[in-house]
Amino acid sequence: MLRIGHRGAAGHAPENTLASVEKAISLGADLVEVDVQRTSDGHLVIIHDKRVDRTTNGAGLVSGMSLRALRELDAGAGQRIPTVEELLQAANGRVGLILELKIKGLAEQVCKSVHLSGFTGQVIYASFMHDEVRSIREADPQAMTMALFGRLSNDPVMAAQNAKATHIGFRYITVTKSLVETCHQRGLVAFAYTVNDQQDIKNVMSLGVDGIVSDFPDRL
Ligand code: G3P
Ligand code: CA
Repeated sequence: MLRIGHRGAAGHAPENTLASVEKAISLGADLVEVDVQRTSDGHLVIIHDKRVDRTTNGAGLVSGMSLRALRELDAGAGQRIPTVEELLQAANGRVGLILELKIKGLAEQVCKSVHLSGFTGQVIYASFMHDEVRSIREADPQAMTMALFGRLSNDPVMAAQNAKATHIGFRYITVTKSLVETCHQRGLVAFAYTVNDQQDIKNVMSLGVDGIVSDFPDRL
C-alpha cells in the first residue's frame, strides 16, 4: 500500500510548499500529492484554493495574478508558492508525484512541463474534472491518471473507465471493500483520501485500498 503525503505533508508544514514536500520525503512518503493551477501570465503553480487568501498573506485570485506577484506572497513559514518546474526539480529521483489539476485546460501544459523536466519518477495526473483526466490521456497515452470522486456517482468505476483513468480516488468515508474489489476486477488502482485519524487509517487499510492520502504520511 502506497503512503501518500497530502499537499506535501500538510499536517507538519505549510501545505503545497517545497518545505511540505521535503517533509513528506523525510517521513518516507511513496508519493506526494499537490494541487496545480495557472497564473495570469501562464505559469503553472502549486496552490489549492482558487484564491490566495487562506494560505498566504495576500488576497486575490490565482488566475488573476502574475507569477511575480504570487512569488511575493508568504505561503507560510516564509515559504513561497512553488512553480511546477521547481517542484519537479526538487522531487526528481526522490519521490513520486500526484499532480491534481484544479482548473480546466491544464492537461497539455502540465504533461509538457513534466516531460521537459526529465522527471524520472512516477507521476499520476488527477482531477475531479473527468474531462481533464481524459485530456491527459489524449496528451500522453502512457500517462497514469486518476479520476477523483467526492460524492459517489451511480457507477464511479464505470465513470473512471469512461475517463480512461488508470486510478480512482475515493473520499475515504465513501470507500467499501466491494467497491475496491470492483476496481481491481476492472484493472483500476484504488486510493482513498484524506485520512488523518489513526483508527480511520486502520479501517480504510482493511478495505484493501492500494494507497492512502494523508496530511500525516508518517501515520500510514
Ligand atoms: O488526493 C485528493 C485530494 O487532494 C482531493 O481533495 O480538496 O484536498 O484537493 P483536496
Ligand atoms: Ca488535492
